[in-house]
Amino acid sequence: MISGGEHPLGKQAHIILFGNQKGGSGKSTAAMHLIVGLLRLGFRVASIDLDARQQSLTHYLENRSRELEKHGVWLPMPTHILMEPVALDDRKQRRQELEKRLRDQIDLLRGQFDFIVIDTPGADNLLSRVGHGMADTLVTPVNDSFLDLDLLVRLKNGSIGEARPSSYANLVMAQRKKRFQQLKSGMDWIILRNRIPTLRSKNNRNMARHLEDLSAQMGFRIVPGITERVIFRELFLNGLTVLDLAEETALETPLTMSQLAARQEARDLMKALWLPSIERKMGHSKILEKERSQST
Ligand SMILES: Nc1ncnc2c1ncn2[C@@H]1O[C@H](COP(=O)(O)OP(=O)(O)OP(=O)(O)O)[C@@H](O)[C@H]1O
Ligand SMILES: [Mg+2]
Repeated sequence: MISGGEHPLGKQAHIILFGNQKGGSGKSTAAMHLIVGLLRLGFRVASIDLDARQQSLTHYLENRSRELEKHGVWLPMPTHILMEPVALDDRKQRRQELEKRLRDQIDLLRGQFDFIVIDTPGADNLLSRVGHGMADTLVTPVNDSFLDLDLLVRLKNGSIGEARPSSYANLVMAQRKKRFQQLKSGMDWIILRNRIPTLRSKNNRNMARHLEDLSAQMGFRIVPGITERVIFRELFLNGLTVLDLAEETALETPLTMSQLAARQEARDLMKALWLPSIERKMGHSKILEKERSQST
């Protein structure tokens, strides 16, 4: 646990939001891994589910609570909030009420937690927009397909040179500008390549190249990706993450090479987010240091 006395991050929790408007790219899975990773480092973590329709993150955590009760093992849990929809017909009133509720909720959590992790739905909605405006770090998982690249840019003649930002990219850039004007602080926009096949194809290499080209143009950075692995799908039912898997726990038989690699990828991702106080707790990584110096 964080030692008593001074709050290591000052008075304000750091807000990390997982967002894109494309369904199924890995937002909830990645959010859950980050929550567990931060808790396991001893941070105080609150989580907010803005996806009132699917509630994947909420269900993931409910499964975790059940696992905890069933096996009596220690599984760290965040303080979790599911934002319910507002039943108001008038769109403007609904927006104002939603915005107020989310802002109040975050104000309340900010002084009590080190990190607030927010999961959003894979579609555009009011709450998700408000959340995007509050994020210190925005993580956008992108699957390795040109359909997902289309989330960021509208390609013309299949060329990045002639691409225009998509409506989602415009939303992010507008929120970021507004935030800078209001708070004089930037938002770190991170693209996380997810479900990368173990056997990389020409398509994967092309995706990597296109994303590199876009990063300077659109102001995001790319972090080491997560490989497509069965283990990420299997753990949901037990509410576990690859960061809960350890050789010494009774939760699993000895880890396979693939599980060990998955756990390492999740750890590398956490470091690559450059969150406050993380490096001190996780140790230094020469690879990430090199990446950071290249991207700044
Ligand atoms: N690296 C991975 N390897 C294998 N399966 C994965 C990986 N990441 C996510 N998945 C699986 O992909 C599916 C979609 O993931 P997830 O629900 O996290 O996406 P999402 O972006 O939150 O979706 P939505 O937009 O619908 O909320 C799930 O079945 C999940 O288990
Ligand atoms: Mg989801």
